[in-house]
Order: sequence, then structure tokens, then C-alpha cells
Amino acid sequence: MARAVFPEVLARLRTFFDVLDNPDDTVWTPAELSVKLRGRHGAFITGSECIDAALLDAHPQLRAVCNMAVGYNNIDIAACTARGVLATNTPDVLTETTADFGFALMMATARRISESEDFLRRGDWKKWCYDMFTGSDVHGATLGILGMGRIGQAIARRGALGFGMKVIYHNRSPLPAEAEGPLGARWVDKERLLREADHLLLVLPYSAISHHAIGSAELALMKPTATLTNIARGGIVDDAALAAALRERRIAAAGLDVFEGEPAVHPDLLTLPNVVLTPHIASASVATRRAMADLAADNLIAALTGGRPPTPVNPVVLPQPLRA
Ligand code: DGY
Repeated sequence: MARAVFPEVLARLRTFFDVLDNPDDTVWTPAELSVKLRGRHGAFITGSECIDAALLDAHPQLRAVCNMAVGYNNIDIAACTARGVLATNTPDVLTETTADFGFALMMATARRISESEDFLRRGDWKKWCYDMFTGSDVHGATLGILGMGRIGQAIARRGALGFGMKVIYHNRSPLPAEAEGPLGARWVDKERLLREADHLLLVLPYSAISHHAIGSAELALMKPTATLTNIARGGIVDDAALAAALRERRIAAAGLDVFEGEPAVHPDLLTLPNVVLTPHIASASVATRRAMADLAADNLIAALTGGRPPTPVNPVVLPQPLRA
């Protein structure tokens, strides 16, 4: 157990395995993680731990790495598959909670909630003014979604059905008509998405391809009144380029839950009023974090006791069922 987790989940795992846990919840360095993995057959990890080919080669006894996260860019899946190591993640259980948060962060950004609260807490509120903290409307605006997987679609539902937003999105391929239809959602190319969105939400997985998918060139295409919200992964946005665009008001505001090199945050972002910053908490409701931990444990137990793990990322390494 690379990180601390709900005591009930740890207790359940102890009924199956000899568990080495991390009660102090320190984030182990790669070298420390390697020492802890000696003789271990399974690893319960989070996005803070990196599983790469060198680590796998150092631990040939390792059979499963179970991530308590839907994203798995911290795991070299090809290296796992090549060595017959199962990798699992926690999809579905966090979709609605993460969509709630993405929508909340977008609204906080558009309506300047953090900035105005900060002003109030500083004691600067002396009178009502007609233009005090005027932001941009969410209802009826154009919602742009980059990455239209489960979470993207859940955000689109909130926008279209709850707030009367026009939904445009860009994804590798368009959704089937029956998914688009009820939302009135429309696939557009990336340039059009950037040009037309009033509020752009990033919900795509991180990979070498999505690295800096939003940099200065992309920010330059956005409306000066637009907002950008990133709940996906740090590294999808070029944070230095974003800070410059926000400072020069080339876009109106941003909401960021994830950062390049987190938990470090680009120092320029910390000085800007027009950005709402949260510490990677989009899936952080009590119920959802518990469901994620339970699912990661289910995967680990099944993987090491001959069962079928519910959410494998590389099911090709599982024993194939015999054909009748
Ligand atoms: C995920 O599940 O990928 C979230 O970012 C939490 O790490």
C-alpha cells in the first residue's frame, strides 16, 4: 500500500494478504518504492507513484499494480503488458463526482468566486458597485469540451440539461448520434472548439500526444472573454503560457485542479487574481474516494487470488477463459 487509505479498506486487504502499508502517508521516492516492493506480489498505488520498466524489471515477482485513480499515466502499460503484469484503474465510480467538480470549478471561474471571497476576507468590501466582480454567464453560453469520454459526457449533461448551454466538443471521433442527440452536442475540430467556446473544459487523458495540447498558439485562438478549466492532468496545459495569457487578459480566467509538476504550482499562477486554484480534488467526495479505494482493493484481491479483476487496463495479460 503505497499511500494511506481508509482503515476499513486496509483491514479488508489484511484478511487476504500480508500487507506492508504506509501509515505516515509519506510520498515514497522511486528508490523507496522499489525497496518497499521487495518480495511483494501486488501494489496498491495512486497517481503519485510511477511504475516503469526499470521498477518492473527489479521486481519480477510483481503480478499486479492497482491504481486508485481512473487516470493511469503514472503506469507504463506497455512495460506491464510485456512482463505479464496486470494494471488496473478505477473508472466509472468517480464520473459524476468529478463532473460535479468540473462544473463547479468552471462556475467559480466564470463568476469570480475565489477572487471576490478573497476581497471580502481582506476587508476591502466597503460598498456595492454596479460592476463589482462582474463575470460571464454560464447559462445559455457555449460549453466546449476537449475529451468527450465518460466525464466529458457527464459535464455535457449538466451544461445542456441543467443550464441550457450549447455543447460543442472535440474528441478523436464523434459520439454516436444517440449520445449526442439528447444533449444537442456537436463534434467540431479543435480550432473551432477553441474559437467558439465561452467556457472550455479539459477532460482528456494525459499522454505524449496530449502534452501541451493547450499552449500559446491554442490560447491565442480563444475569445478574450473565455474561461479555461482543467480537471484532467497537469502537462495538458502549458502552465507558463497560460499564466502569460491570463496576465495579459488574452483569456478572461482559468480554473485549475491539476498542474505541471504538481504539487508544485507555477509561481506566476499564484500571483494572478483571475485563476481559481484547487489541489487535485475533483474526485474528492467521501463516498467517491471510498468507492475508488474499494474498487482498487477488489482489483488487487481478484488479481492475486485467481478471480476476474473488475477493471483491468491491460486485460490481455489475464488468463483467457477456456472455450466451450
Ligand atoms: C483520477 O482518478 O485519475 C484522479 O485524477 C485522481 O487521481
